[in-house]
Amino acid sequence: MQAAEGRKEAEACDGARSSSPASGPAPLAGSRPAAPDRLGVVNAVKPGETSRTPWIVGVSGASGTPYAAAVLRALLAAGESVDLVVSRASRLTLLDETGISFRDAHWREDLRDWLARGADGKPGTFEADLDGDAVRYWSAGDLAAGPSSGSYPAKGMLIVPASTACVAGVALGLSKDLLQRAASVTLKEGRRLVVAVRETPLSGQTLRQLVALDEAGAVVLPASPAFYAGATHIQDLVDFVAGRALDAAGVPHLLYRRWEGELGGGTSGT
Ligand SMILES: Cc1cc2nc3c(=O)[nH]c(=O)nc-3n(C[C@H](O)[C@H](O)[C@H](O)COP(=O)(O)O)c2cc1C
Repeated sequence: MQAAEGRKEAEACDGARSSSPASGPAPLAGSRPAAPDRLGVVNAVKPGETSRTPWIVGVSGASGTPYAAAVLRALLAAGESVDLVVSRASRLTLLDETGISFRDAHWREDLRDWLARGADGKPGTFEADLDGDAVRYWSAGDLAAGPSSGSYPAKGMLIVPASTACVAGVALGLSKDLLQRAASVTLKEGRRLVVAVRETPLSGQTLRQLVALDEAGAVVLPASPAFYAGATHIQDLVDFVAGRALDAAGVPHLLYRRWEGELGGGTSGT
């Protein structure tokens, strides 16, 4: 963890935070401020209270920002809370693929715009309710953010899409930014890590790094849509990959039609 000085520096690099973490993480539901004379009750959860335990979603700079949008919408639809980390490089892919300039200081507005778009880029395709504390946003440069520590509650992490640079960083434990650090923390804590890698072809180096991630306990999930689920629109292909990522995380969803043992379901009109 960085000291307050380092934290200020990181925030200055990445722009001011506009979410509740902007002025330090908001207290978790069920937590209490530290009482120096009563250390036994710090972070105690009262009966009936529940602690917020989010999925961390990391968006890195590979092509495929519609995959991330589909995963985020489905997590929220399943009633899950989400801590979102958007890498610096992914701002370029997001700009390229949606026209949205993602800004730390206006993340809620920009995220709402992003999640409302279909995979074809059409605005207003979906409705995204981002009010409340369901989504927390952390700057990628904020190495003192909640998800940088194993003691921060989290169910696990999905990296969607994962660049080969991100794969390398996580495989090597570089922790060059919050996204990579949160992934390393997820592995060391033995939590589910889903890595939706997007690149083709894959170099031998990346393949070896993917094996290392698999051996470390991650689910390596290539962003490769299937055609047996009756896709008729680009959104169906995106939702298939997002749905498989959620399957790997154990989160229920209705994103694609599952295989039922009958050939012919992949043809249009069935
Ligand atoms: C428009 C665009 C598309 C890209 N697509 C991919 C991709 O599909 N896969 C990949 O591994 N890198 C891709 N890159 C390169 C990554 O953004 C780059 O390696 C970056 O360093 C990744 O950083 P990050 O992992 O911190 O997000 C793309 C870059 C741009 C600008």
